[in-house]
Amino acid sequence: MKTKILTENEIAFAAEQLKRGQLIAFPTETVYGLGADATNEEAVKQVYLAKGRPSDNPLIVHVASVEGVRPFVDEIPEKALKLMTYFWPGPLTIILKIKVNGQLSKSVTGGLDTVAFRMPNHPLTLELIEKSGTVLVGPSANSSGKPSPTMAEHVHHDLAGKICGILDGGMSQVGIESTVIDLSEPDGIPLILRPGAVTKNQLEAVIGTVAFDQHLVGENETPKAPGMKYKHYSPDTPVLMVRDGDWAEAIKAYQNKKIGLLANKIRINQFKNQFSASFMLSETGEIDEAMRQLFAGLRALDEADVDLILVEAYDNQDVELAYMNRLEKAAGKQYFETIPH
Ligand code: TXA
Ligand code: MG
Repeated sequence: MKTKILTENEIAFAAEQLKRGQLIAFPTETVYGLGADATNEEAVKQVYLAKGRPSDNPLIVHVASVEGVRPFVDEIPEKALKLMTYFWPGPLTIILKIKVNGQLSKSVTGGLDTVAFRMPNHPLTLELIEKSGTVLVGPSANSSGKPSPTMAEHVHHDLAGKICGILDGGMSQVGIESTVIDLSEPDGIPLILRPGAVTKNQLEAVIGTVAFDQHLVGENETPKAPGMKYKHYSPDTPVLMVRDGDWAEAIKAYQNKKIGLLANKIRINQFKNQFSASFMLSETGEIDEAMRQLFAGLRALDEADVDLILVEAYDNQDVELAYMNRLEKAAGKQYFETIPH
């Protein structure tokens, strides 16, 4: 199958393909998603196959409005409705109890009695969902285990030949996947299963107390979001995190190796000629920009001829928590000083 790169003038064509059970990758503000009709069992199965994704890892259902959620749940709890009103369209995924005998394909939820919903903030994709006349599953459109795609080219690199088309909507503006919050127990404390650009503080400002799933806090807990247990975001090249004060020492320690630098501009200028390849994570160290560039940088340096990739570490707080959650997985939790040298 030849995978077509589609422009905004071809949304009607893309929607037609989705109706026919084909797979179309779509842009969102977080990362690109791999779209298929969430009510078509065959199409949803193809999504797992194309990504090489374990079938016990459920998919997010992408809607174009709050109304898009209603057919698939008995009710939208009050807190969920508040969050939808406040944050949608945007980088927040909300897990609710699924309606028994509803229209969603069984494979969407991997056998769970809950289902995740998100309304992405990208005009092309909102139009695509509307024109398709259904709701779309949308796992990140990477091969399972690889960094999520933030550009159409990344999707093409991983999935060319396996899917019908990629709707090109430019570079993703947030750069890491949505915050996932579980509201499936209306009387329990809402749980953040995956940190993202919408932070705990922002959520609490709208619905009161929210907690992190234990696995995000403790080492040995099993995550409630099945996807969080898998190896993730891993380039083939080893990745090491480097804290602010450790850079000079880290660069020195690996003088005999080909270093790939994923760091801010000042750092890249400071160590000029002491690395083999670099990718600018941000101009000034600002976290929003670092989030936007993280996956693109990991992909670019993985393609470069380097022995290891050194990456800027941030503090584990607020929105930095989301960046560090992805980076720690890419680095297998390895910081510079934890490697003997
Ligand atoms: O930003 C995003 O969320 C992107 C864009 C494309 O929308 N999508 C995305 O999908 O990241 P995916 O499939 O790569 O990650 C979905 C995460 C997984 O960790 C999965 O286990 C979890 O959400 N999840 C989905 N449904 C769930 C459910 N019913 N209960 C618990 N976790 C669920
Ligand atoms: Mg993913």
